[in-house]
Amino acid sequence: MTSNEQQKQQTALIVGASRGLGLALVEEYLKRGWRVVGTVRGQARTPLHDLEASAGDRLLIEQLDIDVPEQIAALRERLQGVPLDVLFVNAGIALDSDKPIGELGTDAFVRMMVTNALSPMRVIETLDTLVAPGGVIAAMSSGLASVGNNTDGGWEGYRASKAALNTLMRSYAARQPVSTRTLLLIAPGWVRTDMGGPDATLDISESIPRVVDVVTSQTGCSGLQYLNRLGETVPW
Ligand SMILES: NC(=O)c1ccc[n+]([C@@H]2O[C@H](COP(=O)([O-])OP(=O)(O)OC[C@H]3O[C@@H](n4cnc5c(N)ncnc54)[C@H](OP(=O)(O)O)[C@@H]3O)[C@@H](O)[C@H]2O)c1
Repeated sequence: MTSNEQQKQQTALIVGASRGLGLALVEEYLKRGWRVVGTVRGQARTPLHDLEASAGDRLLIEQLDIDVPEQIAALRERLQGVPLDVLFVNAGIALDSDKPIGELGTDAFVRMMVTNALSPMRVIETLDTLVAPGGVIAAMSSGLASVGNNTDGGWEGYRASKAALNTLMRSYAARQPVSTRTLLLIAPGWVRTDMGGPDATLDISESIPRVVDVVTSQTGCSGLQYLNRLGETVPW
């Protein structure tokens, strides 16, 4: 690689990259020549670690449980001086998604609200100053987060937590009227992962490369958008 190419190399931080869509985001950015920081929970080896051999020094694996504010602050310290072109908060959980809200336990509801709404915003609020002017801050939302499109119910606690994420991201965006950064909430489609299950309509390869295309094409646009993997606006 020439020094000119090195200068142009961009960096993405993918939060929640041990498996599923987050792992695929790391793979896709590496394939496109980016330097990637990917986070995992705990010390255990994950499929992300299998990429280290081929990625070399373009992949840095960091540890982060997004539900632990001290770990978010510690990651911010460790990444001081690492300018990010993309911060993508992907981590999320779905618990008892078959239960209507009246049957969902308080613990499951609270855990989804914390991990899917509060914690991603804490990550963004803590790490946003690492994102370069003109960079992108994205969070993995869901088509289920759309209040306007909710005509069928289902996944009710999860749906509410992702709608909360969208609302909190709107509040964050509203506080930054002169921000030069691009803010995105992404609906990746229903994808076959541990969370999406075997009946999901899309393979990961049909979702994540398109998601990265959307992030790339939106770079430089100011304001917050809620988009699907095809770059189409999803109704709030
Ligand atoms: N699959 C779909 O159809 C679909 C559709 C719409 C939106 N989404 C969203 O896309 C994102 C990824 O989903 P997926 O299908 O890839 O799910 P997945 O296979 O269950 O993977 C979830 C990822 O989130 C991480 N995670 C969960 N809680 C965390 C925490 N407290 N701190 C740090 N990392 C945490 C997991 O890490 P561990 O390995 O440590 O558990 C894992 O890397 C989620 O936000 C999900 O809601 C998925």
